[in-house]
Amino acid sequence: MSVLRVSGSLVEVAPMPGVAMYDVVLLGPDRLPGEVVEIGDRRLTVQAYEDTGGLAPGAAAAPQGAPLSARLGPHLLGAVFDGLLRPLSSAGPWLVPGAAALGAGDEGRWDFTPSARPGATAAPGDELGTVATAAPVPVRVLVPPGVAGAVTELAAGPVGAAARVAVVGGTPVPLTTTWPVRRPRPYAQRLGAAAGLHTGQRVLDLLFPVARGSSAAVPGGFGTGKTVLLQQIAKWCDADVIVYVGCGERGNEMADVVADLAALEDPRTGRRLSDRTVVIANTSNMPMMAREASIYTGVTVAEYFRDMGLHVVVIADSTSRWAEALREFASRTGTLPAEEGYPAGLASALAAFYERAGDVVTLGGRRGSVTIVGAVSPAGGDMTEPVTAHTQRFVRAVWLLDRDLAYARHYPAVAWAGSFSRDAEPLAAWHAERGDPGWARRRERVTALLADADRLTALADLVGLGALPGAERVVLLAGRLLREAVLQQSALNPNDAHCSPAKGAALLDAVLAVVDRCDALVAAGTPAAALEATDFGVLVRAARETDPDDVDGVGERLAETLALLGEPA
Ligand SMILES: Nc1ncnc2c1ncn2[C@@H]1O[C@H](COP(=O)(O)OP(=O)(O)OP(=O)(O)O)[C@@H](O)[C@H]1O
Ligand SMILES: [Mg+2]
Repeated sequence: MSVLRVSGSLVEVAPMPGVAMYDVVLLGPDRLPGEVVEIGDRRLTVQAYEDTGGLAPGAAAAPQGAPLSARLGPHLLGAVFDGLLRPLSSAGPWLVPGAAALGAGDEGRWDFTPSARPGATAAPGDELGTVATAAPVPVRVLVPPGVAGAVTELAAGPVGAAARVAVVGGTPVPLTTTWPVRRPRPYAQRLGAAAGLHTGQRVLDLLFPVARGSSAAVPGGFGTGKTVLLQQIAKWCDADVIVYVGCGERGNEMADVVADLAALEDPRTGRRLSDRTVVIANTSNMPMMAREASIYTGVTVAEYFRDMGLHVVVIADSTSRWAEALREFASRTGTLPAEEGYPAGLASALAAFYERAGDVVTLGGRRGSVTIVGAVSPAGGDMTEPVTAHTQRFVRAVWLLDRDLAYARHYPAVAWAGSFSRDAEPLAAWHAERGDPGWARRRERVTALLADADRLTALADLVGLGALPGAERVVLLAGRLLREAVLQQSALNPNDAHCSPAKGAALLDAVLAVVDRCDALVAAGTPAAALEATDFGVLVRAARETDPDDVDGVGERLAETLALLGEPA
C-alpha cells in the first residue's frame, strides 16, 4: 500500500482489502499516524493527525488493522500526553512528528500484587491484582471486557507494562490494556444523580451543583474566566482522578496547569496533586487533527479509572476548539456543511461525548463515575451559535460566565440568572442525608433574593433608590452582600481558592442572618440609608480571612456584624 496523493492533511492511499473505516494507517518514513475516513473503489482517504510536510506520493502506508486506541495503564497518572496519548516531555508541551510511535511507548516496570486466586473463575471487570504507584488511589488490573474463564497463570512482583500478569480463560491479560477511543467502555448499570461532586467553588456548590457522573458546560466569551474556573475545579474538586484535556488552548496555559498541579499538595494525602492527574495537551500550536481525537482519548482514560471503582472528572478546555477541528475536517473532505459550516453531525458528536459521563456500576460490580466539565467559547459571546446551543441540550448543568461580571472583576463570573443545574433537585436529598437539611431551602431563598435584587436594581436606576420602600432597599443590600461575601471567590487567595461545604453553608447562613436582622431593623423604624451606610467589611472579608474549613471564624464575624447592627428597638 502506498501514498497516491497528498493534499493538506488528506492523504489518498492505494486500496487494500481488509482496511476498515477509522482504522489507523501510518504514513511515510516518519510513520505519521492518520485515520481512514473514506473508502472508495480505487483509493482510501486517510486523515493525517499531523503536518504532512515532506510526505510524497510513493511513500509507504502501513495499516494497523485497528482504530485509534488508547494504551491504558498506571503510567498515565502524573504524566502529560498529546491528543493521541503519546507522552510529551515535561520540558513543555512539544510535539515532534512521529516522535513516539503510536502505542509503543515505554511504560516502565510496575510492582504487581496479585489478588485473584489461581484456578478461580474470573469474569470481565474482576480484579486480578493491584499496582503500586505514586497516586493515592488503587490502580487495579482488571479482567478486560470479553475475557472470562479460569485464572491459570498469575504474576507477582515487578512486571513490564506490556507483560502479561495473568492468563484468564486461555487469554493472556497484560498489565496495560488498549481500547478504541471512540467506543465507550462497557459497564453493568447506569445510576441516577445520587451524590454531589464538591467543586470547592461556592457559587457552584451552593447554587448550581453537579452530581458525580453528571456533565456541565462553561460557556463564556473571551477572557471571562473559563480556564481559571476549570483549573480551580481540577485542583480542588473531590474526585479521585482528574483528566485535564487542553484542546486548542494556549500552550503556556497548559504548561501552567502542569506546573501548578505539580506544585500543589493534595489536601487528602499530602502528596503532589499531579500524582492523580492525567494531562492531555493538544494546544493551539499543535496539529488541528489530533485535537479531534483528544476529547475521546480523555474520556477513554477516565472510563479506564472509573472501571476500577474510582470517581473521575474530565475537564475539556475548550470544546469549541474541538468543534472547530470537526468543521475544518468537514470542509477539507467536502462534507456538506450545516449550521455555520459545522458538519451535520455536530450535535450527535457533542451528545456522544457528554453521554460518556455517568455514575455506574462497573462490570466488576464496583461503583465509579465519570463527570465531564467542558468549556465552550462562543465567538463574540453569541450563545445561539451551534456549539453552545447544542451543548446546553446535552449537559446537566450550565455555568454561564457573564461578561459584565467579569469586567466588574466579580469572579468567578458565573451568572445566577443564566446558569442552571438539573441536578439541584436530586441533590437536595443527598445534602439532607449528609447533615445539611437546610441546603435546598437556603438555595431557593438565595436564588429568589438575587433575582429580586436584579429586578430592583433596574427599578432603582429608573426611579432613584430613595423612592423605594425600606424593605426593598434591604433586598438590594442583600444582593450586594450575597455577591461580595459569598459568590465572589478569589482563585489567587490561598484561604479562598477553595471552600469546604460547611464553610460555604456558614457564609451563606451568615449573610441571610444579617439580612433577617436588617429586615427586622427596617420594620422597627431604622432608616434603610443607615443600614446601607454600615460597614459590612468584616462579613465581606470573612471568606478570605478564614481558612477554607473555618466555620467558627465565619460565626465570629457574623456575631461581630450583628453587634454592629444592633437589636431592633
Ligand atoms: N476566579 C478568579 N479569581 C481571580 N481572577 C480571575 C478569576 N477568574 C478569572 N480571573 C481573571 O480573568 C483572567 C482571564 O481568565 P481566563 O483566562 O480563565 O479566561 P478565559 O475565559 O479562559 O479566556 P479565553 O476566552 O481567552 O480562553 C485571568 O487571567 C484572571 O486575571
Ligand atoms: Mg481560556
